Amino acid sequence: MQVLLAGATGAIGRPLIRALVANGHSVSAIVRSPAAHPLVRELGAEPITADVLDRDGLLGALDGVRADAVVHQATALRSAKPQRRIPADDPTGLLRTVGTAHLLAAAEVVGARRFLTQSLILGYGYHDHGERPLTERDRFGVYDGGVADEVVRACVDGEQQVFAAAGVDGIALRYGLFYGPGAFSDLFAGLMRKHVPVGPLGPGGVNSWVHVADAAAATVAALEHGTPGRAYNIADDTPITWREFFTEVSRSHGTPRPIRLPAWAIRLAVPYLGALMADTSMRISSALAHDALGWRPQYSSVAEGLAAG
Ligand SMILES: NC(=O)c1ccc[n+]([C@@H]2O[C@H](COP(=O)([O-])OP(=O)(O)OC[C@H]3O[C@@H](n4cnc5c(N)ncnc54)[C@H](OP(=O)(O)O)[C@@H]3O)[C@@H](O)[C@H]2O)c1
Repeated sequence: MQVLLAGATGAIGRPLIRALVANGHSVSAIVRSPAAHPLVRELGAEPITADVLDRDGLLGALDGVRADAVVHQATALRSAKPQRRIPADDPTGLLRTVGTAHLLAAAEVVGARRFLTQSLILGYGYHDHGERPLTERDRFGVYDGGVADEVVRACVDGEQQVFAAAGVDGIALRYGLFYGPGAFSDLFAGLMRKHVPVGPLGPGGVNSWVHVADAAAATVAALEHGTPGRAYNIADDTPITWREFFTEVSRSHGTPRPIRLPAWAIRLAVPYLGALMADTSMRISSALAHDALGWRPQYSSVAEGLAAG
C-alpha cells in the first residue's frame, strides 16, 4: 500500500516507517520542516512538508499525491511540560481532534480508503480498574471530573471521527504507554541523571506498556488485517507498577537511583502526574490484536525490551 504518515519523526513514527517499508509498503511522510527530510529519507520514506493543524497548507501540500491509507501518529508529547491540569487546547489534544479532522480531509484528497489513528489505553479512564484485564468491550471514555478528562475526551473524539467518516475504513490503536528509543524510558532516564524526582514513593499504579517497535509492528498488522470500525488494544503481556518501571529504566540506562516523592506531594505539585502515576491502575488485554491481527509483541515485558537495548 501507499501510506501517508503523520508523525513520522516521532517515537513510534521512526520504527513505523521501517516496519512499513520492510513489509513492502511505500511511505509518504508528513514533516513540518525540510530539516527532517534527510531523516525520513534515510528511514525509507518520501517527505512532504506540512503542518497537520494548518488545513489549507496540508491539503495544498498534498496536491497530486495519491495514497491508499492515512496513518495518524502526530502528537506534541515530546515538548509537553508538566501541567497541573490538561487544558482543552492542549497541543496533543488538538492533534487528536482538529488534526484528525484535517487528516480525514487529506484522506479524501489523496484517495485513501483506510485510516488508522493513534489512541491511548488511558482513554479507559484515570482510576483504579482493579485486577481484571481491560478489553475493547470495556467502556472507553470514562470521565472522572479530574485533571485528565481532556486527554480522555481527545482520544474518544479522534476515534469517533475515524469510525464515523464516510468513504474511509477507520481503525483506532489504543496503545499502552510507549517505551524504547525516544519514548518514556529515555525521557525518565534523562530525569534520573539530573536527579529530578520521577514519581511516587511506593509501588504507584499498575500500567501496561509497549515497546515502540512492537507498537509499530502492531500498526502494520492493523493496516493489513484490521477490521473497519474497530479499536485494538496494543500492549505487552506484563503490566507493571511505576516503581518496577523506574527500576528497569535505571538498570538498563545505568542512571542514578530514581528519586521519588510522596504521592500527596506529586498530586499537589503536578496533579496530572498524580492522577497518572498514583491514582490510575490498569491491566490491558491485547487478546483481540493477537487473534484478529496475528500480532504478538516481540518483547513480552518492559524488562525484556529494555534488556534487548
Ligand atoms: N502511548 C504512549 O505512551 C505515548 C504516545 C505518544 C507519545 N508518547 C510519549 O511522548 C514522547 C514523545 O513521543 P513522540 O516522539 O511520539 O512525540 P513528538 O515528539 O511530539 O512527535 C510526534 C510526531 O508528531 C509530529 N507532529 C507534531 N505536531 C505536528 C503537526 N502540527 N503537524 C505535523 N506533524 C506534527 C512531530 O513532528 P516534528 O518532527 O515536526 O515535531 C513528530 O513526528 C515519548 O516519551 C513517548 O513515549 C507516549
